[in-house]
Amino acid sequence: MISINWEGKDKFISNIEKRKQYFSNIFKNITSCLDNSITNERYTKCSIKNWNRKLFWGNNIEIIYYLLNFLKDKIDLVYIDPPFFTRSNYKIQINEDKNLYEDIAYYDTWNKDINSYLQMLYKRLFLIKSLLSEKGLIFVHLDWHANHYVKIILDEIFGTENFINSIVWYYYNKYSAGKMQLPRAHDDILVYSKTKHYSLNEIRVLRKKPIKQLKRINVNGTLKNLKDRYGKVIYRTVKDKKIDDVWKIPCLQPASKHWLGYPTQKHPKLLERIIKLGSNENDLIADFFCGSGTTLITAERLGRKWIGSDISKYAIYLTRKMLLNHYEEFENLNNKNLELWAHLDEEKKKIINSNFFKKELKIQRIK
Ligand SMILES: C[S@@+](CC[C@H](N)C(=O)[O-])C[C@H]1O[C@@H](n2cnc3c(N)ncnc32)[C@H](O)[C@@H]1O
Repeated sequence: MISINWEGKDKFISNIEKRKQYFSNIFKNITSCLDNSITNERYTKCSIKNWNRKLFWGNNIEIIYYLLNFLKDKIDLVYIDPPFFTRSNYKIQINEDKNLYEDIAYYDTWNKDINSYLQMLYKRLFLIKSLLSEKGLIFVHLDWHANHYVKIILDEIFGTENFINSIVWYYYNKYSAGKMQLPRAHDDILVYSKTKHYSLNEIRVLRKKPIKQLKRINVNGTLKNLKDRYGKVIYRTVKDKKIDDVWKIPCLQPASKHWLGYPTQKHPKLLERIIKLGSNENDLIADFFCGSGTTLITAERLGRKWIGSDISKYAIYLTRKMLLNHYEEFENLNNKNLELWAHLDEEKKKIINSNFFKKELKIQRIK
């Protein structure tokens, strides 16, 4: 078995219990802080019973350590869309009251060192496995930059026997320049289960053209062709088919009603398929690199419970805004139902006290 090793790997594993303990009290519900000054910290005591609609702002390794204290074996589906090791940063332009400025939405440079990138992912994937329920599944979204190395990590952590699929997301509508290689038009989504006790729901899509298929019946566990009274096989017309592992789903475009302007924002159709395939109503879904919140809003729409996290204040800003708009429009919910959790360090306090989350910002990614 091939494994990824680095100096400090053993220490990481032997320190997990200590780190889990250390972070057990660090995160607090700061929802009410957003509407008040936080000079006399208005932390709410955590309610462990209701694990739904919780958005965490911070470094996800700390959040995962924190959650290990409450949600071991409890999360049914994890989707992660981490930075891909593109070695560049993702910039945005912010329009605040017609005042334009640029900032970085998130970083993906790693000092151009694949080792530090892989160590970062290894630690998170290792810990996430403990959060998954017995029937739990993980979907890890990557592309050609690091996909092949991460497959080795996933095989090591989850076991080759628990590898389910490498889904190809074929985005036919994205312009891809480059004369020295073929246009790159797909991402890879690696799917693993925690144990053998998982199931995938059947999803069917319309065929381009209906086809004729032999009608078959199950006789004592074996499929047999059905015949008419003259002994001729019977056909039926089939308009749809079960999805396979190549998914033709467009990239989100600025003209879409779902567009929020966040770099690498995914299409809700992609998340809808993943969530419908790997979970059922009321299951708990988590996305620890949630960006603009595509997984969370899709989970909400599909009646799943969810937990999300991101380190970027812009990601948290957009995710909150979109979810609150959704609650206002469709559900009898308000901003109390959406809890923002964080470890309030000085930097975060400053951001909150500047009323960042109450501002009307228009955000556009810069290519
Ligand atoms: C590819 S984007 C996710 C896009 C998202 N799927 C969407 O549809 O908008 C990756 C996200 O991971 C976040 N991220 C990177 N490192 C992180 C960390 N250590 N903890 C939490 N979030 C992190 C970035 O801020 C960024 O928003």
